[in-house]
Amino acid sequence: MASTGVTTAFAPGRVNLIGEHTDYNGGLAIPFAIANGVTVGARPVDGKRIEAFASDLQEADSFDLADIAPAKGWRAFVRGTAAELQRTGRELRGASLEISGTVPRGAGLSSSAALAVALGLAFCALAGELEPDRVELAKLCSVVEHGWVGAQTGLLDQLASLFGERSRAVVIDFRSLAIRSVPLELPGHRLVLLDSRESRANTASGYNERRAECARACALLGVSSLRDVTLEETERLPPPIDNRVRHVIGENTRVVEAVQALGRQDAVALGHLLDASHESSRDLFEISTEAVEAARDRLLRAGAIGARLVGGGFGGNVLGLLPSDADDLHGAREVRAAPGARVTVG
Ligand code: GLA
Repeated sequence: MASTGVTTAFAPGRVNLIGEHTDYNGGLAIPFAIANGVTVGARPVDGKRIEAFASDLQEADSFDLADIAPAKGWRAFVRGTAAELQRTGRELRGASLEISGTVPRGAGLSSSAALAVALGLAFCALAGELEPDRVELAKLCSVVEHGWVGAQTGLLDQLASLFGERSRAVVIDFRSLAIRSVPLELPGHRLVLLDSRESRANTASGYNERRAECARACALLGVSSLRDVTLEETERLPPPIDNRVRHVIGENTRVVEAVQALGRQDAVALGHLLDASHESSRDLFEISTEAVEAARDRLLRAGAIGARLVGGGFGGNVLGLLPSDADDLHGAREVRAAPGARVTVG
């Protein structure tokens, strides 16, 4: 086939099966990549300019690689990813980029991480690096979120996008950054997403505040992460920080139990863990909303044996585990584990 000269990078969004707000606390989570994602088509051009076009929004951006100024919205990701890659010593080249996506924005499915990861892979590929170190790239994308976008997110979304596998979930230990995958197979059951229709953004919600509360707990307890904090130690913390930490401790335990349940293909046990995770996110971490609760109630009424909010909270999608023979629920759609991010050179 004739060369098209276009390098295409695709990065998926993710669903977090369980382990919420554990990533930046050195904890555990089990996300999986989904079929929806962000695609960046990149064509090299002479010189040092980046011309980017976001086709879903019909918006453009243009900047010089030698002088990258901050910007807002999707442009912050393009500029930030280019700048941070250059900061590592990589020689980027001029390019024309076309960006399009199928992850709904503000829905708790990590459209932002998918965007940053796809951009990172595209820029690296154009610079001749087809397979950059994926953990390093995840960290770099998170630096972009912190420094260029203003969201103090952890590594959950980027690692899920980069390490996702078909029919498997990714088990991540955020303290050691050990990553492995486990089969996500629950015979007789299906996972579905139901959108609460409440749009969320890490920058605009209570996300950064929750992260700051966890950092405050670490400072008060004199530890560098919440990973080894015990329930007894939470008695020394003032409210509501004590409850934030109780959530993180419980959530890490639930992740370990969920890995065991997946190993036994035990949907009932997993369903209980999803419910417990949601209740903790709602009552202890306080990241649910009326719209999220309403969506979850609909899933439970439709026969879900477990349901929980996914992602940072304050809106977005609810994940439900349903028997395969349960009636279809209007607006809900089945979700499966799909392959992770990849690059194709045309
Ligand atoms: C958002 C962030 C992640 C993670 C989750 C909560 O998706 O981007 O880093 O903290 O919230 O688990």
